[in-house]
Amino acid sequence: MSSSIFTDVDQYIHELFIPEDEALNKTMNSISETGIPSISVSYTQGKMLFLLAKMSKPKRILEIGTLAGFSTIWLARALPSDGVLVTLELEQQHADIALKNIENAGLSDKVQILVGPAGESLDQMIKGKTEPFDFIFIDADKPPYAEYFKQSLKLSKPGTVIVADNVVREGRILDKATTDEDAAGIARFNKLISETPEVDASILQTVGEKMHDGIAIAIVK
Ligand code: SAH
Ligand code: DHB
Ligand code: MG
Repeated sequence: MSSSIFTDVDQYIHELFIPEDEALNKTMNSISETGIPSISVSYTQGKMLFLLAKMSKPKRILEIGTLAGFSTIWLARALPSDGVLVTLELEQQHADIALKNIENAGLSDKVQILVGPAGESLDQMIKGKTEPFDFIFIDADKPPYAEYFKQSLKLSKPGTVIVADNVVREGRILDKATTDEDAAGIARFNKLISETPEVDASILQTVGEKMHDGIAIAIVK
């Protein structure tokens, strides 16, 4: 939605709360310069993710869907000096771009990028009994969101916060007969988190620079 009141207020929030930031600007520029999809979270959404992450006092963060590392940088900044962020990305090109952006942000010592299908990386971590994460951000391909959530639960512990991007898609999740695989996948995810007794959860609708959308927030009991 590009209704100007929403973009104007988004700009207002941006100017109030987000100082000029060379690492983030370079990351955004790397997206337009290389022509990879321009689908990162916005600056104001990034700041909100940073705050949500910080509230969970994380030592370990998991991100599913790296792209150029824009949300990765925001999330890694919520970590203490000995914190770790693992981010999963299918495309080698995206991972290469993200690696540079993360280096430029001075966060290489905290961030590990695993390249490959997220479902497989998650299974490997589950099998390898990886230490549970404190905060998990789901933002990769939409059809398997429900699978990613089930796998995320296995990498969680009581108190783990799971946030998922793009769970409203301008209301397309309301159409039960949709042929949009992304919207259908998200609707399955939303229903699943609403019915999963192991978490408390809800959805926050968002407007602004990006389209009308929403983030799901779940906390493991
Ligand atoms: N979180 C990023 C945006 C991620 S965009 C940000 O806000 O800055 C979604 C990313 O998920 C893309 O880079 C895409 O290549 C990746 N992706 C798509 N399918 C995937 C899969 N099966 N496994 C891992 N990553 C995948
Ligand atoms: C798309 C994906 C995203 O993660 C996002 O934040 C916006 C759009 C997309 O695939 O269209
Ligand atoms: Mg997204």
